[in-house]
Amino acid sequence: MKRFRKLRQNEQMRSFVRENRISTDDLIYPIFVKDEKNIKEPIESMPGIFRYSIDRLDEILDEVVSKKIHLLLIFGIPSHKDEKASGAYDENGITQRAIRYIKEKYPSILIIADVCLCEYTSHGHCGIVKGNEILNDETLPLLAATAVSLAKSGADIIAPSDMMDGRVEAIREALDKSGFINTPIMSYSAKFASAYYGPFRDAAGSSPCFGDRKSYQMDPANGREAMAEIKQDLAEGADMIIIKPALAYGDILSSARKAFDVPLIAYNVSGEYAMVKTAAEKGFIDEKRIVLENMLSLKRAGADRIITYHALDIARWLSE
Ligand code: PBG
Ligand code: ZN
Repeated sequence: MKRFRKLRQNEQMRSFVRENRISTDDLIYPIFVKDEKNIKEPIESMPGIFRYSIDRLDEILDEVVSKKIHLLLIFGIPSHKDEKASGAYDENGITQRAIRYIKEKYPSILIIADVCLCEYTSHGHCGIVKGNEILNDETLPLLAATAVSLAKSGADIIAPSDMMDGRVEAIREALDKSGFINTPIMSYSAKFASAYYGPFRDAAGSSPCFGDRKSYQMDPANGREAMAEIKQDLAEGADMIIIKPALAYGDILSSARKAFDVPLIAYNVSGEYAMVKTAAEKGFIDEKRIVLENMLSLKRAGADRIITYHALDIARWLSE
């Protein structure tokens, strides 16, 4: 009889043969910064997550830094929206100002800037709209301008999440032309049209006011197509790739890990977070064990790093 239990007999032995571990170095923490004064607003569908104004960002960032989280993904919530998403590429836009503030006050933090238009458009779509159509090529220059303006503000990494075709190439070209030859692109290469983004759209006020995102984000039924999207983004100059959502897409992570030798990031999205938090609040599940198990599943599937709203809770548990 082969006795597998030899290696499970006590914690020291289990730790010795453990294949994956979670550390704060694995985690990217998303934050929402709102263009207002003196606010820390709870997001109802994401218990434990708040929108902060710049003047109160320290309340969260002091703890983030002291708990050894070094990577932030930043989302701005503007006070003004219009058809061409002017706020996205405004030098004094909310995200630009937030990045400048964080870079100056917390120089050890690496800032990843999400690049998309949906938080800034009056209609909530990720691109320029004509009639009922979301235009691809007309959107590219605006995404490129947004990326350059965020890089100018101090963003360390540019993360396009719009899913327009050709955006990585357009952004790379614009960054290079503006002298940002050393700013990496971390592309949301395989981003699915998912119901799991519901709470985020609440948080950022970015729900499309007509239709849905199915003509640009991927069909959840398609796995092979995700590999083609990743391959294309890498050909256009992406340095790292994101798979999103994460937990229901372990197969995509695993295939991408085998096919591509670049850093692979899983985005554990708002709906995944909300489900765990709500069940935990009701006492139906053990939050800490479930969250750590979910994180391990993503690492096992092949993720190098994980974007997650649980990051600060995990950092607190790890420092206990
Ligand atoms: C912007 C963007 C979204 C998310 C990240 N960037 C929303 C969307 O595509 O509708 C979702 C993040 C989450 O659900 O946690 N395009
Ligand atoms: Zn968008």
